[in-house]
Amino acid sequence: MNRKYRKTIIAGNWKMNKTPTETKEFMTALKGMMPRGRWCDVALCVPAVCIPAAVRAMRETRVGIGAENCNANPSGAYTGEIATNMLVDAGCKYVIIGHSERRAMGETDADVNAKVIAALDAGLIPIMCCGETLEQRETGITSEWIAMQIKAGLQNVPEEKIRKVVIAYEPIWAIGTGRTATPEQAQEVCESIRTVVRKLYSSKVARAVSILYGGSMNEKNAYELLAQPDIDGGLIGGASLVPEKFVKIIESANQPAE
Ligand code: 13P
Repeated sequence: MNRKYRKTIIAGNWKMNKTPTETKEFMTALKGMMPRGRWCDVALCVPAVCIPAAVRAMRETRVGIGAENCNANPSGAYTGEIATNMLVDAGCKYVIIGHSERRAMGETDADVNAKVIAALDAGLIPIMCCGETLEQRETGITSEWIAMQIKAGLQNVPEEKIRKVVIAYEPIWAIGTGRTATPEQAQEVCESIRTVVRKLYSSKVARAVSILYGGSMNEKNAYELLAQPDIDGGLIGGASLVPEKFVKIIESANQPAE
C-alpha cells in the first residue's frame, strides 16, 4: 500500500452467492461491525438482484456497492444483460469487469475493454481483473500475459479517466483454491502492472492507480499481502461472505502509512 499516493480499497466479490434476504442480513451485521477509522475504501460487489437490498442497507455508510458485470451497450435487445446506467441508477459505485470466471465463459479482452469504457462513461469505477493460469506461470510468461491483458483492457481509455480505474490482479490458480500467491509473487506482478501503466500513461498516473490482489485472500494472510508496496487492497471472494472475516481484512489495511 501507499496511502500517500493512492487509495487502499478492500472489495468483496460475492460471485453467485446470497439471496436478497441474506444480503440484508449480512449488511445489517456488517454495519454493526464496521471499524470506525477511514484508512481504506470498502466495496461489496454483489449479484444484480441483491444490489437494491445492499444499497438500501448501506445508505449513509462508507461501504460502496458494486455489480459483478455489465454490458457495454447502452440499451437494446440484449436479453438478460444489464447496462451501466441501470447500475448507476440502482445505486452502484463499482463494477467488476473481466473476472477470470467470466473470461472462462467467453469474455474476450475486447469485451473487457468495451465494458471498461462504458463503465467509465457512466461514472462507475471499473475493477478490471487480470490474471494468469498455473500453466502460464509455470511456462514463465506471467508478466507478458498480464501486460497484454492490461494493454488490451485499457485501450483508448484517456488519461483523465484512467485515474478512476482500479486494477485487480487475480492469479487463476489462487482463486477459490486456498492457495494464495505469496506476498512476493503478488507484489512482483502488481509492480509489473504499475510499470505497464507507467509506460502507457505516465509516472504520475502509475503512482495514483490502485492495484488490488485477489485469490484466497483472507483474514489471516491479508496483512502481509497488503504490506507490499504495490498491493493497494484486495478483491476478496469467499472471505467476503462472512462479515467477521471481511471486517478483519478491512482492519488489516490499517497499517502505518509510508
Ligand atoms: P477467493 O477469495 O474465493 O479465492 O476469490 C477470489 C476472487 O475471485 C475475487 O474476485
